[in-house]
Order: sequence, then structure tokens, then C-alpha cells
Amino acid sequence: MTFQPKDRLIFALDVPDKRQALDLVQLLEGEVGLFKLGLELYLAEGPGLLKELVNIIDPERIFLDLKLYDIPATVLGPIRSILHGLALFTLPSDLGPAALKSIVSNTAAAFRVLAVTVLTSTTGDDLKALGYERRYWENPARLVVDRAVMAKEAGCAGVVCSGREVKAVKEACGPDFLAVCPGIRPEWAAVPGDDQKRIVTPYEAIKNGADYIVVGRPIRTYPESQGGPVAAARRVVAEVAAASEP
Ligand code: C5P
Repeated sequence: MTFQPKDRLIFALDVPDKRQALDLVQLLEGEVGLFKLGLELYLAEGPGLLKELVNIIDPERIFLDLKLYDIPATVLGPIRSILHGLALFTLPSDLGPAALKSIVSNTAAAFRVLAVTVLTSTTGDDLKALGYERRYWENPARLVVDRAVMAKEAGCAGVVCSGREVKAVKEACGPDFLAVCPGIRPEWAAVPGDDQKRIVTPYEAIKNGADYIVVGRPIRTYPESQGGPVAAARRVVAEVAAASEP
């Protein structure tokens, strides 16, 4: 199968219920590569929704973004009951090397694990307030890269990082280590009251080396008067295609 520009687009299904989620899957099925299920939807609908989704789309197109943070035994409990064969699953890198290694080695057959480096809503000021060393809060990219190297050593398939840090992550971890980038804001789509901070456009993220970009609100809330989510997804894919050209 050839890798098309749309395959690099992960749509964040950040909606409160199954009905809205299934409507969006139906609408965008031919426009995006993967669908990302996050906490909001998973807590509301539970594993039953995953079973329904795999009746409509290939499990290899599902990214379960739960960022479970607990001791390995407690994280492994709920993971065991999750459907196998999903594309991607997230763990916070703050779990540390030993816990990441243990969880990754116990779930190797089920899905590829991505470590979340530093949330794209986190700023240097946040890191300072959390007690991180000066070199990290002065430049959060340093923390992202150190965590990416740790995640690679722990056996993770890749990381979630911002499009601003992806180049440095690839340099440190190699081209095959996956970089999945949220915090994507096209110039043509405003998100009111935005919480994302370390943002880049779809074009910039792909040019910098992102394997996948995660886009939620810029697609979901794109005005119907301008073509709604389908038009927005196509505009994002056009940027991905332009950035993929040599
Ligand atoms: O709506 P928006 O495009 O900001 O959605 C981004 C998605 O990526 C959200 O589902 C968010 O949980 C997720 N995410 C993120 N930053 C991370 C990891 C995941 O924004 N570091």
C-alpha cells in the first residue's frame, strides 16, 4: 500500500458521545488516515465504542490516546482488555524508563506505543513552576529530546511532540522513530480560546519531519459556510502534500 498525504493526518475525535463520533467517522473516513480516540470519548462510551468502530474502520486506523499514568501493574490492567491490533497507544513519558519498558514489553503484540514527551499546551513557565531545571524551562525542546531518547531506549515506537521539536527528535532518535505532532494550527483556521501553545502549521510540521499530524478543532469546528470539516481536512491534506514534495 502506498502512503498517501491523507494517511499522515490523524483526526482527533474529541467529542462527548458515540453518536457525534460515529457521524464524524462516517463524514471523514475517506479524508483522513487515522482517528484518535481520547479520554473524553473513552470515558463516556468505554471499550464498547472501540468494538463498534472496528466494524466501520480497520483497527489499524485507530489511535487510542489515553495517556494512562499509574504504576505498571495498574496501567497494564485496563490495557489488557483493550482490543489488540490498534495502530497507536499513548503513555506519558513521566512514567520513567523502567515503567515504560515494562508496559511496552507486555503490550508489544497489541499496539505500537508512543510516549508523550511534553504536552503541546505546556510552556517554559509551566516547567519552571513544576520545578524543572533551568535548561529545560529555558528551552522545553531539550526536555522533549531527552524524553524521546529515553522512550526509544525503553522500546517505544515513537513520541508525541510539537512540530517545533520534531527535527531535533529525529536527529537524536533516527528517521524510523515515529514523531506524531499535535498542536497543529493552519493559518486559515482560528480556534477561539485556544489552549495549544507550541503550535505549527500542517505544512511546517511535515516539512520539519513529522510522520503524522494530529488535528482536532481546526477541522471539527471549520464553518459550514466554508465547507465544514470535509473542506478543512482537504485543506490540511493539501498542505501535507505540498510539504511532502522533495
Ligand atoms: O483540537 P486540537 O487540534 O488542539 O486537538 C489536539 C489533540 O491532540 C487533542 O486530542 C489533544 O488531547 C491531543 N494532544 C495534544 N498534545 C499532546 C498530546 C496529545 O494536544 N502532547
